[in-house]
Parts: sequence; structure tokens; C-alpha cells
Amino acid sequence: MTTLGTHAAVAATTVTKAGFGKLPDGTTAEIYTLKNADIEVGITNYGARVVTIKTKDRDGKVGDVALGYNSVEGYVVEGTAKTYFGAIVGRYGNRIRGGKFTIDGHEYQIPPNNNGNALHGGPHGFDDLVWTGKELPNGAEMSLVSKDGDMGFPGTLTLHVLYTLVGDSLHINYKATTDKTTVVNVTNHTYFNLAGDGSGPILPEVMQINADQYTPIDAGLIPVGGAQPVKGTPFDFNTPTVIGARINDANEQLKLAGGYDHNWILRGKAGELKVAAKVVDPKTGRVLTISTTEPGVQFYSGNFVDGSYTGKTGTKYEKYAGFCLETQHYPDSPNQPEFPSTLLKPGETLHSTTVFAFSVQK
Ligand code: BGC
Repeated sequence: MTTLGTHAAVAATTVTKAGFGKLPDGTTAEIYTLKNADIEVGITNYGARVVTIKTKDRDGKVGDVALGYNSVEGYVVEGTAKTYFGAIVGRYGNRIRGGKFTIDGHEYQIPPNNNGNALHGGPHGFDDLVWTGKELPNGAEMSLVSKDGDMGFPGTLTLHVLYTLVGDSLHINYKATTDKTTVVNVTNHTYFNLAGDGSGPILPEVMQINADQYTPIDAGLIPVGGAQPVKGTPFDFNTPTVIGARINDANEQLKLAGGYDHNWILRGKAGELKVAAKVVDPKTGRVLTISTTEPGVQFYSGNFVDGSYTGKTGTKYEKYAGFCLETQHYPDSPNQPEFPSTLLKPGETLHSTTVFAFSVQK
């Protein structure tokens, strides 16, 4: 008998790098595969995107729960009708009214790319850039330098996004600095389908969001009227509720977005890691728990996915093919001073963490 204590073996993660097809300029895109006993995640340096997330269901059967394409060409071909599958969106994820905002009396203009507003950083946001990838012992780091004036934003922004596997979780750590005061809101835009990529609508999945308030929108999907209680509305997900249960209710807010496409104000302190949402797929037993240091989450039910694109499994992605839970600061914060600030100043470092944890329910 050994006198040494027995330690449970920590699941080792392997990281491998391979080609992921050709970018428009002829260079080869990269894919980093992070794998341990629990999950396998594919990350490409085009848009720092999550391409695949393979997890086990309640019977131990492995399935891919992230929407996307088999090679980089699929992402590039989307052109202007973008889904943002798996991407890190920025410099300002979500919307800015008219693409305009003012810092220290200076007005900046981002080219509008969504009903007259700027969405996800304008027409060529971070989703559309080739990042510098680096293999790390338990993950991959994606880095980017967005120049002063990139898409109209002030200041050179240096951004590092670290993807690491910790047991059954994918951790995403963001770190950013600037040389001029700017606005930053970066998030990950993975579309999840816990029953499996290409398996049909996510409407039967059960959603829980830890929020008492959300920010209702106007026709351009921009918050108006500040924070409002979710109580008594189809936006109350404090009790786990089937996504499709109320999605077609005669509710003005649902009609404006064709489903859910709103920002929830999370309970708990911004800056502290807290559970934002939990989703259960009753069919496979897969459970996704999302924690974040961000103050909000955009729950988007894939309303504008319209059958134009065919994904990894060879199936067309139709409306509600996946849901996004984009942990973030609130939309249009640069123009809404009552919202938590998205300003980043020289000498400051933005730190943000989001964790996607996978488990199963019997
Ligand atoms: C937005 C949607 C948009 C989607 C993809 C989401 O973050 O909230 O309105 O259609 O991204 O473009």
C-alpha cells in the first residue's frame, strides 16, 4: 500500500492545430482542437469562432451542440447576411443607435449595417478578421489589434480572448487595452442546439435566466424606456420554461423581434462570476449552464436564421435552429448613460469572463 495520498486524475487536455480551408486572400485558416475526456471544442482564427462543441448526452453519446460550417469558406460566403456563428463580436457587440456616439464632445460614426444602426461592430467587425492564434497547454489564445479608426472606433484596441477547457467547461477570458478612450462590448456569438447541430428547432429546450428585468426594444431592436420587470410577461424565465411555450404570444416585444432577441439584466454584481442562464434539452438530457462577469445577456432565439445556409451536418439552418446567450453590456450603452458604462480608457484593462459548462440530467 502506498503512503502517498491518491489524487483524482485531472482530465488532461490536448490541443492540436490544423488547416481549416482557404481565406479569400489564399492563406490557410487555422482550427485549434481542444479535447479532454468530457468535451471537444474547435476554434478557428477567422473571427476567433467556436466551430464545434462536442459533448455527451445522458447515454454517453457524443454530439456537436454548436452551429457552424466544416471549413472557413462557409463563414466567408455568408457575406452581408451574417449569422455570426460562434464569433467573437466587437468592437461593440450588439447595437448602437444610428452607429453614432460621442466621447468627450467628439462624435464618432460607425457605418450602419442593420436597419440604420450599427450591429456587432459594423459591416466588418471582429467576426470578419483573421486573429493571431496560439496554442496553450489547456486551450488557445486568439489575439487582435484593431487600429485607431477601425470601423470608425477611436483608439488602437488590443484584445486577447483565451479559450480554455476546465473539466466539462469552456472558459472564455477577455482582456483588452486601448491607447485612446473608446467603447468596448465583446461577446461570443455561439448558436447552441443542445439536441445536436442540425437536429431542428430549439423550441422544446427549457430555458432559465436569472433576471428580474430586461430592456424592451423599439422596431430597430434598440432598448427604449430603460429596464422593465419581466414578471407577468413571456420574458420571465426565472422558473425554467420551454423556449417555445410563449414565443408566439400576442406580445408586442416578441412581435418586434420575431421571437426572443432582448437583453436581460442579470441578478448579482457585475464583475463577479454568477450563473446567468441554464438550458436543458429534455430529449438528450444535455444541460448548459452559463456563468459570466457581465451585467447582461442577450437571449436570441435565432429568429432571423432563414434557411439560406447549410451547416456542418448538411442540413439547412431554419428559423430557431439554435439559440444564442450573448453575455454582454447592454445594447446602445454608449448613448444610454443610465446603463453600465462601456468606456475603456488608456491605462485601464478590461477583464471579462464567461463560462459554458456542460452536464447531463437523467
Ligand atoms: C442579434 C440579432 C441578429 C443576430 C445575428 C444577434 O446578436 O441580437 O438581432 O439578427 O445577432 O445577426
